[in-house]
Amino acid sequence: MSYLELSHINKEFSGTFAVEDFNLSAVQGEFVSFLGPSGCGKTTTLRMIAGFEQPTTGKIFVNGQDITFTAANKRKVGMVFQSYALFPNMTVHENIGYGLKIAGKNRQEIARRVDEMLKLIQLEGFDQRYPNRLSGGQQQRVALARALAFNPQVLLLDEPLSALDAKIRVELRQEIRRIQRQLGITTIYVTHDQEEALSLSDRVVVMSRGRIEQIGTPMTIYNCPANEFVASFVGQLNIVPVQVKDINKNEVLLNGQVLRASRRVDNFESNRARLAVRPEEINPGYREGHNTLKGVVESINYMGPIVRIRLNINTNYFTIDMFNEHKLTIPVVNETFEVNFPAEACWLM
Ligand SMILES: Nc1ncnc2c1ncn2[C@@H]1O[C@H](COP(=O)(O)OP(=O)(O)OP(=O)(O)O)[C@@H](O)[C@H]1O
Ligand SMILES: [Mg+2]
Repeated sequence: MSYLELSHINKEFSGTFAVEDFNLSAVQGEFVSFLGPSGCGKTTTLRMIAGFEQPTTGKIFVNGQDITFTAANKRKVGMVFQSYALFPNMTVHENIGYGLKIAGKNRQEIARRVDEMLKLIQLEGFDQRYPNRLSGGQQQRVALARALAFNPQVLLLDEPLSALDAKIRVELRQEIRRIQRQLGITTIYVTHDQEEALSLSDRVVVMSRGRIEQIGTPMTIYNCPANEFVASFVGQLNIVPVQVKDINKNEVLLNGQVLRASRRVDNFESNRARLAVRPEEINPGYREGHNTLKGVVESINYMGPIVRIRLNINTNYFTIDMFNEHKLTIPVVNETFEVNFPAEACWLM
C-alpha cells in the first residue's frame, strides 16, 4: 500500500517542463533518493511535495489523502535544505522548537520534545548555543531535528550534506539513515552524488531533464541500468563502439575480434552498437571462455583500495579497476597487458 504517491506530475515554468509525467509510489518508511544532474527537476519535485510549488497537472497523495493543493503549512512534511537554514538569532532550542511554538504548543511540551530531538541527533547540552557556534555538520543535525520535531508524515532532504567535507558527509549520512530507520519515516533524499544515493536508499529514482529514467533498488540501478543515460550516470563505465556480428547471440566485433555480451539495453537495428562493461568486471590475464583483449598500458592511477589502469586497445580506451590486494602485480606503463571479462558483465547499447 503506497503512503506517498505522485501521480502524473507535470510542472511547467513559462512554457518549459521542469518536471514531466513523474510517477512515484513509496511505501511507509521507505527511503527513496532522487538522483540526477543539475537542473533535472529534483528540487522542483521536492518543493511540490512540500507545497512550496504547485504542479501544473497531476496529483500528490499522502496516506491516501489528496494534498496537491493543500497549503505548505497545513502539510505534515518536514524539509531540510542544502544550506543551513537555521535562524541565526535563535538558540538550538528555539530553532528546534520553532514549528511547535507556531503550532501553539505550551512551553513544557516544547521543552520535552526538544530534549527528545537533541538526544536523537546526539547533541544533548547544545540547547543554548547559537548556530554560528556550531560546526556545519552540527548545524545540519539541528536542521534535521527541527524538521522532525513536529512529527511529520514525510521527510524531505534536499542535498543536505553537499556543503560539508567528505568525511563528515559519510558520517552524517549514516546518522540520517539511522534516525530515519528508528522513526520509520517515509523519506525523499535529493542528491547528485551517486555513492550517497546507492549506499543509503531502498530505491533510487534516476532523473534527467525532468523525466524519470529508471526507478529501482540500488543494485538494479547499478547492475541492470534501463538505458544508456542510467548506465553512464551511475558508476564508472567503459563504452566502446563495436560492429554487430550476430545480434541474436549478442556477438560483436572490436578490431575484428569477437566479443560477447549478455544483454541489450535500448533497441537498435543498425549494425553498429556500443559495448558497455564496468571497470571492476575486467580482470588481468587470459581466461578460457571469457572475452579477452590486449592493449598497451596508458596510465596507472594508484587510488588506495583500488588501482585504476587505462588501457589503449587500438585507440579504444578501457578503464580497469583492480583491488589493491597484497598479491597484486601492477602492470607497467607502455607495456602490453592482457585482460579478460565475462559476457555476463557486458551489455550492448
Ligand atoms: N521558479 C522557477 N522559474 C523558472 N524556472 C525554474 C524555476 N525553478 C526551477 N526552474 C527550472 O526548472 C528546472 C529544474 O530545476 P531544479 O531546481 O528542480 O533542478 P535540480 O535537479 O534541483 O538541480 P540542482 O542539482 O542544480 O539543484 C531547471 O531548468 C530550472 O532552471
Ligand atoms: Mg536542486
